[in-house]
Amino acid sequence: MDVRFVNAGGGEAVAIMAGEGAQLGAAAQALDKSALGRISKAMAAGRFKGGVGQIVEVLAPEGLDYARVLVIGMGKLDAANGLSVERWAASAVKRTLTNAEKLTLIPDALAQLATAEVGAHAALGARLGAYRFDSYRTKLKPEQTPTLSMVEIVMEGAAAARARAEKDAAVAEGVFFARDLVSEPANVLYPESFAERLRDLETLGVEVEVLEPATMEKLGMGALLGVAQGSVRPARLVTMSWKGAGSKASRPLALVGKGVTFDTGGISLKPGAAMDEMKGDMGGAAAVSGAIKALAERKAKANVVAVVALVENMPGGAAQRPGDIVHTMSGQTIEVLNTDAEGRLILADALWYAQDKFNPNAVIDLATLTGAIIVALGHELAGLYSNDDDLANAILAAGAQEGEPLWRMPLGAGYDKQIDSPNADMKNITGKPAGGSVVAAQFLKRFVKDGVAWAHLDIAGTAWKPGPYEDPLSPVWATGYGVRLLNRLIANKYEE
Ligand code: BES
Ligand code: MN
Ligand code: ZN
Repeated sequence: MDVRFVNAGGGEAVAIMAGEGAQLGAAAQALDKSALGRISKAMAAGRFKGGVGQIVEVLAPEGLDYARVLVIGMGKLDAANGLSVERWAASAVKRTLTNAEKLTLIPDALAQLATAEVGAHAALGARLGAYRFDSYRTKLKPEQTPTLSMVEIVMEGAAAARARAEKDAAVAEGVFFARDLVSEPANVLYPESFAERLRDLETLGVEVEVLEPATMEKLGMGALLGVAQGSVRPARLVTMSWKGAGSKASRPLALVGKGVTFDTGGISLKPGAAMDEMKGDMGGAAAVSGAIKALAERKAKANVVAVVALVENMPGGAAQRPGDIVHTMSGQTIEVLNTDAEGRLILADALWYAQDKFNPNAVIDLATLTGAIIVALGHELAGLYSNDDDLANAILAAGAQEGEPLWRMPLGAGYDKQIDSPNADMKNITGKPAGGSVVAAQFLKRFVKDGVAWAHLDIAGTAWKPGPYEDPLSPVWATGYGVRLLNRLIANKYEE
């Protein structure tokens, strides 16, 4: 689907904005006037109030070239921001994706946004809303098949919008990369094939290094390899380096991602219900990979390294047993009391490796780590843990800006104490569900070196969303959560 900025529109379907109280801006009013007032008449007839996402469709209005006018509610116009524009554009795209070839968007001026920004947000919303994961659907009916090939955004000063939209298109590519990875089934996407897909980033100028089990063994990554040993699919540890800063040698920001390509729970086997969703247990790895793709596509002026730990957690004759004690790269030992608490095990080694090898100025890990964070926050917010208030606040701000919000969660010695073990330096569970997401974060913190700013994002509730969700910017399942947030954080805080 192409997105273009034009000075004047025309064609099949057109979308306009309406605010609360069915209020129309200047551009929408002009269209209504050409349509001899039919648009406002239709809004009244449909009892349209301009609420967020509400739609009135006017067919074959007299006086217009357009065969269809979509009036899409924005809620309170003085509260409308970039995300409201994105959702407006995405709603229009979702409505026409399979039943129009061309869509014209006529955004109205908004108080808090420059015209170019309105245009750029409309373009980004259109792109994100058009995403589908259809690779395995060979029998789509005509009414299910996307037809929309062109979105035109009508505005003055298109050149400025175009420049911004080009950067945003890079971010959308990163989001799609992450969504695709999360959606791929585990028979297609396993550690080796995941690593292959990351190799493709080399064409964008990303340095990609893939470690195999023999090397990980030499490095002492017993916790990561312990999780992988039950699977016939060998583990991979992939490093992606984007060196966009003026000095390629300046300390990077390190991103770390949990990449469990399928989590059966291992010998501590999960119950059967909805186990298929555990193909998405690599959402953290997908997010940091998508962020690197976005940075490379838009040539960000920052040094960022992403490390993803890729394993499949399976039961079997070679699988690790509850009670096994493993040696980590950090030298600390872990008693594995539950093989389903595997994310923290692979992250223990990946976090240590990232700090040891790259001396980063901060480390941020993303992981679909605990069911407990879903109990706490549902699917609305990701959990944020950090030992550094500046970093935490910058992450909260970036998340709010990009529609990927988080809630800061606590850390504390009382939680930490609960993973002490009489048999090893620590155990990987407490044995009680209480505070499960905090305890997991506390476990990870034991693998953060003194003086290193660190943040952990528990994205178990936001990497994918079960059931029909109302966000027009996302498909029904994989959201690509984290890509936009990380890209914005880096633009705000780490870019030259
Ligand atoms: N991958 C799961 C966490 C998860 C659950 C992600 C639901 C997304 C949706 C993780 O590996 C896990 O199994 N965690 C256990 C930890 C427990 C054994 C301490 C959990 O949350 O039950
Ligand atoms: Mn698990
Ligand atoms: Zn898991």
